[in-house]
Amino acid sequence: MKRLRVAVIGVGHLGKDHARILAGMPEVELVGVADVNHEQAQHIARQYRTQAYSDYWPLLNLVEAASIVVPTTFHLAVAGEFLKRGIPLLVEKPLARSVAEAKELVDLAQANGALLQVGHIERFNPAYEELRSRPLHPTLIRAQRLGPFTGRSTDVGVVLDLMIHDLDLLLDLAGSMVQSVDASGLSVFGGHEDVASARLQFANGCVAEVAASRASPTSSRQMQLWGPEGFAECDFAARKLTLVQASEQVRRHGLDPARLDPASRARIREELFTRHMEVMSIDGKAQDQLSCELQEFVTSVRTGKSPRCSGQDGLAAISLAERILKSIKEKPRAVASKPGQLFPHRTNQDVA
Ligand SMILES: NC(=O)c1ccc[n+]([C@@H]2O[C@H](COP(=O)([O-])OP(=O)(O)OC[C@H]3O[C@@H](n4cnc5c(N)ncnc54)[C@H](O)[C@@H]3O)[C@@H](O)[C@H]2O)c1
Repeated sequence: MKRLRVAVIGVGHLGKDHARILAGMPEVELVGVADVNHEQAQHIARQYRTQAYSDYWPLLNLVEAASIVVPTTFHLAVAGEFLKRGIPLLVEKPLARSVAEAKELVDLAQANGALLQVGHIERFNPAYEELRSRPLHPTLIRAQRLGPFTGRSTDVGVVLDLMIHDLDLLLDLAGSMVQSVDASGLSVFGGHEDVASARLQFANGCVAEVAASRASPTSSRQMQLWGPEGFAECDFAARKLTLVQASEQVRRHGLDPARLDPASRARIREELFTRHMEVMSIDGKAQDQLSCELQEFVTSVRTGKSPRCSGQDGLAAISLAERILKSIKEKPRAVASKPGQLFPHRTNQDVA
């Protein structure tokens, strides 16, 4: 089998993993890696026995596909050159930093017949795959993605950096248009927002509350869903799915404490999740999400099969992110805290 000639553009924090995985695929020839930081390009190229480039231009004539892992600010400029030449791409999330830029990439891909996949990696989370494989009609969804500041991806705010993962999943799950958006957010470190929260109302009646922070002392990546089928909790970090549904008895007759005998009524709390509700815990299969995503990309390029997260999907997520950012900007409190400003019960002397 002729190997697919692929390059990785941008081999920093995440791009080096794209290079490692692609270099290990039997059906791929990693033709080169490009990074404006030439030392980094050389370091990664040596590790995976490929060529280092400080500029991606020579690679435009050498590859049949590429993975774009440069900072979001440069996605349009870099990905655009490949798409103009009809070269299929995997572009890391978010597809671009605005709807206008994302649309330009989607249009270029369409005009030149190039496959465009977006790196919304949680689509490949085994817990999410488990969730997605079940019939589900959520009416209420809550998602939170919290973590400490890493100093990376500061070219965009937390909405385009972290919340975008959940926005993509919400659009995938709800299967309906977002009718209204109400959001708040604030900047902690200066510049873009670092904390954000939004309430989304979908046309089919589903409501989603989504929160993201890159200024959180604790880490959490979770989504809870309620619907007629029951309750589901997806823990993306632990790759675990918990499903809770009413027992056959409760589904048929409801749970009216007044109709229980006194002893059962007294035990209702202890027996809720054994007698009245059924709980199933599923540990997602051990799989490396990035390997699965890159494998899907290579397979899609070879076979013409559509990837599960297309350029259109990436554009839809950014379009929703932009509505959230607009709502945040409309709020009067979207300003950074001022020097000397603290919680009311503490004074500057308390912390000195
Ligand atoms: N899917 C995920 O969960 C996930 C996680 C982290 C990052 N990302 C995305 O991946 C992208 C890169 O993030 P990162 O954390 O690896 O950033 P990074 O800063 O660690 O790496 C980016 C690399 O690109 C290089 N670069 C910049 N401009 C370039 C150009 N024009 N040509 C070639 N190389 C260039 C930089 O020198 C750097 O080495 C971002 O879009 C980010 O949002 C996605």
